[in-house]
This record gives sequence, C-alpha cells and structure tokens, in this order.
Amino acid sequence: DKGGYKHFMAKEIAEQPSVMSAALSAYLTDTGIALPDPGIDFARVERLVMVACGTAYYACFTAKYWFEKLAGLPVEVDIASEFRYREPPVLPGTSALFVSQSGETADTLAALRYCRDKADAIYSVINVPESSIARESDLALPIHAGAEIGVASTKAFTCQLTVLLLLALKAAEARGRLDPEARDEILTALRAMPGTFNTALGRDEVIEAAAQQLAEARDILFLGRGLMYPLALEGALKLKEISYIHAEAYASGELKHGPIALVDSNVPVIVMAPKDSLFEKTVSNMQEVMARGGRVCLVTDAAGAAAAGDEVWKTVVLPDVPEVLTPLLYALPAQLLAYHTAVAKGTDVDQPRNLAKSVTVE
Ligand code: F6R
Repeated sequence: DKGGYKHFMAKEIAEQPSVMSAALSAYLTDTGIALPDPGIDFARVERLVMVACGTAYYACFTAKYWFEKLAGLPVEVDIASEFRYREPPVLPGTSALFVSQSGETADTLAALRYCRDKADAIYSVINVPESSIARESDLALPIHAGAEIGVASTKAFTCQLTVLLLLALKAAEARGRLDPEARDEILTALRAMPGTFNTALGRDEVIEAAAQQLAEARDILFLGRGLMYPLALEGALKLKEISYIHAEAYASGELKHGPIALVDSNVPVIVMAPKDSLFEKTVSNMQEVMARGGRVCLVTDAAGAAAAGDEVWKTVVLPDVPEVLTPLLYALPAQLLAYHTAVAKGTDVDQPRNLAKSVTVE
C-alpha cells in the first residue's frame, strides 16, 4: 500500500521522521544510550572492521568518520565482495560490524562467516531481525525502519546512520572521549531531528525544480568533503540507480586530481556543504567548477547559502544542525533529487531495471 503516494520510494522518504523516531526511542533512554544484551564493551575494542554493500556500505563509510573522530577508534570499512575474497588479516582486538537492510545479502553474509572465528565479536545493524545476518551475529541491532519496498534504499539508510551514530557516541563515552556537555548537545539535536527532517522534506519544491533540469543531463558530479563525502557517494548511487543518469561522486579535494577535466556547462555539479569546519575549502572547489562553466546545485544551510555568493545555479537551504548530524539531514535532499529526477525522466522509480531489492546471489 503506497499510502496515497505515487511511489513506495516517495512514501518511504516521507516516513523518515517517524521511523527515525522509532530508531531513537529503541536506543535512547532518559539516562543515555542503551544497547540490548550483551551490549558492546567499546573500551576493550581496539579496532573495528565494518563491511557492507551499496547504500549500507555508505552508511558504514559515514560511521567511520564518526567512530574515528568521536571515539578515537580506528575503523576499516570495506565492500563485502572485496573483503571476502581478499581474505584480510583480522587481528585479535578486532570487532566486526556488518550492516544490511535485508540481512540476506550474499557477500555480506559470506564476509561475516569469514570473520566468525577471527574477530573478537560479530555485530550487525539490520532491518530484518529474523534474517541470516542477524541470526549469525553475537549482537544484532535492529534499525526499526519498517518494511522497505522501493528498491532504492532511503529510510533504511537514515535509520542505519541513526543506529551507527548512537554506537559511535556510546564508544566515545566508553573510551572517555566525550564530555557530557558535547554529548548532551548532540543528543538534544538528535531528539529534535524528526522535526528537522520535516523541515527538510518541505524543501521539496526547490529540489523538484532543480530535478526538472538535472533530468536533461547525461553526467552529473557530486562533491563533498569530510562527512559529506560518503553522502555524496550515496547521492550519486541513488541518482544513477533510478534515473539511469551517469553520476559520480568525488571528495572535493580530489577534484583537481582528475575529475575537473569533466566539468563544462553540460555537467551539473551537486555540492553538499553545510557551513561547517570544512566549508571554506569546499567553496573554493565549487568556485573552480563555476569558473569552468559548471552549474552548481549547492545543498547547504542559511549561512552557507549567504557565503556562497550568487553565481550558484540552485541552492537548497536546510536547517542548522551540529556538524556530526549533517549526514542524517543531508541524506534527504540527496534522495529527493534522485527521486524527482527519475520521475521527470519517467523511469520505474520503485523497480529500476536490472536491480533486485535483495541480492542473495553473488
Ligand atoms: C541502493 C541499494 C543497494 C543496497 C545493497 C545492500 O539503494 O538499495 O545498494 O543497499 O544491495 O543491501 P542490504 O542492505 O540489504 O544488504
């Protein structure tokens, strides 16, 4: 049942405020972050290996920034199909964390089995509690996204991010890296995030207008720095999956090492850049794009929009949130851009060609 929406994907995008609330209330109590038994003793974890495919991999990649910065915990992230055949050493002190919406992805499950007797513990972040990956983990953490029908993952991604951020905060606490004040600021903003999501979903019209023109493009670039880099990768994946437009993401700092050769007036560039600690650097990359005739669609906050100047082609302005929370919020316009571009192109949004919801074969 599409609940009055034209597509499951639109419904699932719109459900994000409520499912994120559900994910939060499952793990956030009045006294702090609570994990189901037996919990995770983060003080003893020396290193974390995170493995997944597709969108779930981009959730892991985002979480790497969180675990490293907030908790000082070294994290390796990998794509399951590479990890399993590379047969990497998994040293004592390593915990392994697998992220999967379906919990049945063949490569992710094989990577988990590879780690079985090597890692100190096996954790998973899943949407389907009865799934194989959940059953074979020492601790499976449900994301509470509800059934996701659209092939392109949306609400599962933001719920994965929510649970992973809570884990990173828990790790930061356990490792004595987070003062209570900083923690409270993040948790307060996180509790308010469902409302903030609603504001972001309200930017739909601006995004739809941009999408009408993006639909004409043959190639689209996504740029982001820091926490916005994994998100740029996710935005490009979402767009190519459902609109069939070739989209690629780069870390902004890599632009001049190659991809800038692609930029001309035919290649729109989506820049994800809240006015955070890295904004100035990203803006200078954006100016390099505009100097070559590139049309920039900037996704930012009010301060970023004011600082970016008026040569920007389109600006999507989002509410202010603490820097660590930006991946959650900026996921929404990335999804909406893909959705509206696909609708403008008339593709099958919920069941894009060649793709299956659950990849249970290699
Ligand atoms: C992208 C998408 C896929 C999945 C990937 C992993 O929108 O849906 O990239 O994220 O196939 O699937 P799960 O999370 O079920 O392991």
